[in-house]
Amino acid sequence: MPKTYRIVLLPGDGIGPEVIAETRKTLEALAPLFDLTFDFSEQLIGGVAIDETGSPLPDATLTACQQADAVLLGAVGGPKWSDPAAAVRPEQGLLGIRKALGLYANLRPIKIYPQLLTASSLRPDVLAGVDLLVVRELTGGIYFGPRQEGSEEAYDTMLYTRPEVERVVRVAARAARGRRGRLTSVDKANVLASSRLWRQTVTRLMAEEFPDVEVEHVLVDAMTMHLIRRPADFDVIVSGNMFGDIITDEAAMLAGSMGMLPSASLGDGSRGLYEPIHGSAPDIAGRGVANPLAAILSAAMMLRHSLGEEDAARAIETAVERALDAGYRTPDLAHTALPDQTVEVVGTEAMGEIVRSHLTPISV
Ligand code: IPM
Ligand code: MG
Repeated sequence: MPKTYRIVLLPGDGIGPEVIAETRKTLEALAPLFDLTFDFSEQLIGGVAIDETGSPLPDATLTACQQADAVLLGAVGGPKWSDPAAAVRPEQGLLGIRKALGLYANLRPIKIYPQLLTASSLRPDVLAGVDLLVVRELTGGIYFGPRQEGSEEAYDTMLYTRPEVERVVRVAARAARGRRGRLTSVDKANVLASSRLWRQTVTRLMAEEFPDVEVEHVLVDAMTMHLIRRPADFDVIVSGNMFGDIITDEAAMLAGSMGMLPSASLGDGSRGLYEPIHGSAPDIAGRGVANPLAAILSAAMMLRHSLGEEDAARAIETAVERALDAGYRTPDLAHTALPDQTVEVVGTEAMGEIVRSHLTPISV
């Protein structure tokens, strides 16, 4: 009997539906190779959900996600819904689903593919050896603290509790243990009270529970500098919600394109939400040119973290590497030919098809 997994697909807005379509087809092609069955349910989120139901996170979507083994999301947002005065915004759907599912740890691995070494604006010698995992706190901090809107005065509050810091730092420290054993905690403890609590909590927890993991504290402003100056020096980076949002966009540029980077959002159970780091890219939506690899690689993270299907996850990652080895690139990476290489630029669907043609039932 093949194992059946219930997967909710949330294509969302912009290029979301295009990249999720390729991801679904890739999982469908993978299933027979590993004796798996996927039971997909497509639901609304973001701008398209506002248009159809008035809410960026309809109840039916939330219920389906709560009953699923994992959720795969494309992207939300776009100019149509970006009026700052609007009462409902697509992003509320994304923040709402993260919060409602208790997904407090956002894993954003930054891997530099040797085939894409020239994609970044940084010199290849700076990028040599870069292998980072950013763990971003996702359901607290300034994104969720008390706030007040206003035209004369407005505020947001960066609020963290000790248990909120502890649980995300445990996720990061466990990851560091399985990697190079180094954790960098990012804060702004020279100014912010919430960062001083963050730093104290990290120091105490690491000494008590992870004495074998080396820990350092870095201020967020300095971190943005180190990330482009000496990115290979870091292993696992842990930070609060907003600092993590900012440094992961910066870190993504080490890889050259947002179109290559997957992410996983996890809570206490095995259910997780998986999404590419990129946004809805309204400028290229509907043209069939978006890079589907970040979404496809997010499905690999889903197989690994929520479904425990490590071999199947590796099969997807290997197929992506083979597609790059064979010289295929979507337009975001068209300029990445190395001196002895020719590249062929293909669209979203063709890239998905090429990845699928390279899927094999390898085992680790
Ligand atoms: C991200 C995005 C979101 C965030 C937006 C779309 C709400 O930038 O996932 O990094 O800020 O968390
Ligand atoms: Mg962001």
